[in-house]
Amino acid sequence: MDEISREPERSPEDQIISSFLEERSPTYRDLREISTIVWNDLRASEHFARERASADEANDEDRGGHYNLMRHIGDEMQRETRALELQRSKNKVLDLCMAPGGYTASICKYSPQANVSAITLPEDQGGLRIFVRHGNGTRVEVLEADITMFAAEFGVTDIPATHPEASKFSNECPFQEQFDLVFCDGHVARTQNVPSYREPTESFRLTCSQLILAMLRIGQGGTLIMLLHGADVYHNLKLLSLFDTISRMHFFKPAKAHARKDSFYLVAKDMQPGRRVARAAVAEWKQTWKDATFPAPTDDGTIVHDEAESLPKQVEREKDSSELIEKFGARLIELGEPIWEIQRGALKALMEKLERESAESGLEESVETSEEGANPEPTTLNGLTRAPNDSSQLEASVADTLEESANFEAGATGGQE
Ligand SMILES: C[S@@+](CC[C@H](N)C(=O)[O-])C[C@H]1O[C@@H](n2cnc3c(N)ncnc32)[C@H](O)[C@@H]1O
Repeated sequence: MDEISREPERSPEDQIISSFLEERSPTYRDLREISTIVWNDLRASEHFARERASADEANDEDRGGHYNLMRHIGDEMQRETRALELQRSKNKVLDLCMAPGGYTASICKYSPQANVSAITLPEDQGGLRIFVRHGNGTRVEVLEADITMFAAEFGVTDIPATHPEASKFSNECPFQEQFDLVFCDGHVARTQNVPSYREPTESFRLTCSQLILAMLRIGQGGTLIMLLHGADVYHNLKLLSLFDTISRMHFFKPAKAHARKDSFYLVAKDMQPGRRVARAAVAEWKQTWKDATFPAPTDDGTIVHDEAESLPKQVEREKDSSELIEKFGARLIELGEPIWEIQRGALKALMEKLERESAESGLEESVETSEEGANPEPTTLNGLTRAPNDSSQLEASVADTLEESANFEAGATGGQE
């Protein structure tokens, strides 16, 4: 571990949102405080780096563990939201970015009449192995493809011949049907072979691609479930306020898995995709996909992916952010507090565990030094006093380790992302 990870700076438009929430939600304020402590703690950085390294080295057994974990999250999602048990008359499910296939398996379990159409990244492009049974004789049909490359679906048919991946775009518009339930669970993994020119915008491209495919296929009254990162960032606030207008919206966050991250699921029931605002949003997402996929070259011919954009755009975003949070802030707090509470509790538990471990190693060191005749006074590490050890701390530490294994998710990215 060369250097400590630093908390990423929030953009001015995101800062407007967090200031509003910090003033009005004690849960959110506590979460921000503990997040800052974690971000600035060297032991936490090292802990996350170890987790990331072991996730990156995941073997087939671990990947099977990931599949089982996703099925468990599916069970929890069903318990909390009832979204996976479709009425008898409803039977079509679209699972975007489905591998390893935990949610598809959960649908087969809770909606035995349902058929699942799924799209997921091929393994040879860094996608995950599919564990759920699919193909002939099953209710699951899988298309292996990169969903960010369906250019015709996103409104582009004239691909510039000079584009570095010109031949990889597809004119296919897959699964053009109406679905009762759509999952958008895409996540760009560190181990994915994303060409370097795509790296800066890949997660935007993935989000837009999923949203367009989902919104154009969800039936009136259907349910759309989407993984999001951060309820307190401008681009998600825009999305959430849209879904609050065109659906009955809930948030779901598993109590254990990913608890330390800011990720959560938007669960949008009774969708009304035909509303004018929904159609306008699809047009906007198509433009965003296009801008991110075919950035305009600068005068010297180089391509610059610059999120900062022009000053007027920045001013516009800040104004929009203020208006949105004034209008939607109270609702966001109502929906967000339960998920912030889960993340706050998990980060606090992590810090307590790291404190205990420091205390234990402090004791070991003290024993060593006292054997050499030195004074075993408590010392400090990263500004935190190492407390004397006792057996109850050791027991708590063992209990924590068990909890960590329950939290383990092979292939998952670390906590500080
Ligand atoms: C968190 S996993 C999804 C887990 C899944 N919902 C389940 O229940 O097992 C994220 C998935 O997104 C996929 N993915 C990422 N980028 C993609 C892309 N461009 N096209 C298709 N799938 C993609 C990954 O390969 C991975 O399978």
